Amino acid sequence: MTLSLTSAGESHGPALVAIVGGLPAGLELDRDWIDADLKRRQEGYGRSPRQQIEQDRVEVLAGLRQGRTLGTPLALVVRNVDHKNWTWGMAPWPPEGEPTGKGTKAVTLPRPGHADLAGVLKYGHDDVRNALERASARHTAVHVAAGTVAKALLRTIGIEVRGATVAEDVLQARIDEARAARDTVGGVVEVRATGVPPGLGSYATKDDRLDARLAFALMGIQAVKGVEIGDGFALAGLLGSEAHDEIRTDRRRDTNHAGGIEAGISNGEEIVVRAAMKPLPTLMKPLRSVDLETGEAAQALVERSDVAAVEALAVVAEGAVAWELACAAKDKFGGDAIADFVAAHRAYVERIQWR
Ligand SMILES: Cc1cc2nc3c(=O)[nH]c(=O)nc-3n(C[C@H](O)[C@H](O)[C@H](O)COP(=O)(O)O)c2cc1C
Repeated sequence: MTLSLTSAGESHGPALVAIVGGLPAGLELDRDWIDADLKRRQEGYGRSPRQQIEQDRVEVLAGLRQGRTLGTPLALVVRNVDHKNWTWGMAPWPPEGEPTGKGTKAVTLPRPGHADLAGVLKYGHDDVRNALERASARHTAVHVAAGTVAKALLRTIGIEVRGATVAEDVLQARIDEARAARDTVGGVVEVRATGVPPGLGSYATKDDRLDARLAFALMGIQAVKGVEIGDGFALAGLLGSEAHDEIRTDRRRDTNHAGGIEAGISNGEEIVVRAAMKPLPTLMKPLRSVDLETGEAAQALVERSDVAAVEALAVVAEGAVAWELACAAKDKFGGDAIADFVAAHRAYVERIQWR
């Protein structure tokens, strides 16, 4: 069975939910692994105070018994601790009594760079909050949890995935400057995967291509506006003799310009992908906008927000890449039980004599 992932949840609703399907039975999952990644997502230079309020923790409602998967859908929940201040404003049914707490007044000042304007036009909302709550990157928390599950599956066959920011030292100075100017910044993250055997993904159709799947997964993360596989855009300026990774007699390479993927298939070298994040669109010094209620020129909504979330993106991107690699590995090796998955991988690397 192919792995599947679906999620639901608003930024200030009661909880974020993910359902992961297709996991082999018997996979060990430690709650601390997931909570540690959730914590990493919340940390990082330039984040807002919300990250201190929340302290995300995972709950598992189904699919796991005594720390091992059952081979049934895994239901993951991350509660929004801040929801207690929004119970009236985010209530699923019209609440009784006087409006109280946050989110009770309609937002009519769309922020450039957010879902706000296009979202209300598309869905016919009067309150921008109806668009921004789901468009927010808050629900990446539960995707990170699913990413940790994917990493656990990959680890059984020796694959490790790690994300990091690029040029962190420069980034901190830029964040300080932006904060002082009530502005925001973006940045670049890189995800590397080691231990990936040749043969994940395929050139058979565009949907099977591992590079396409990784790009799709990374572009699916809020604020990501560019993705590179290996040397990416820089390859365009090189000669063929400079750009391609020559093959040694042991079938390995001395260089890795391709980022571990050729023709949509992993080639056994380290997988290297990069994602570019735009500057966050909620500014404490708001940009020009329109009041949707009056039609008058106005300044965009100012709501508690990060100055930068590049380190958080590194964790989210790590989870997204791990998820795609886990999908490709599950497609290749199958297995209802984790032992079948591991045995199929072992038989395959023996067949191709890969070390
Ligand atoms: C981990 C993470 C945290 C983010 N935090 C914020 C934030 O605090 N404020 C903000 O304006 N945008 C934040 N964003 C970006 C917005 O969610 C995103 O720019 C917006 O939803 C519009 O989508 P788009 O940039 O993909 O077009 C964050 C993105 C990520 C990945």
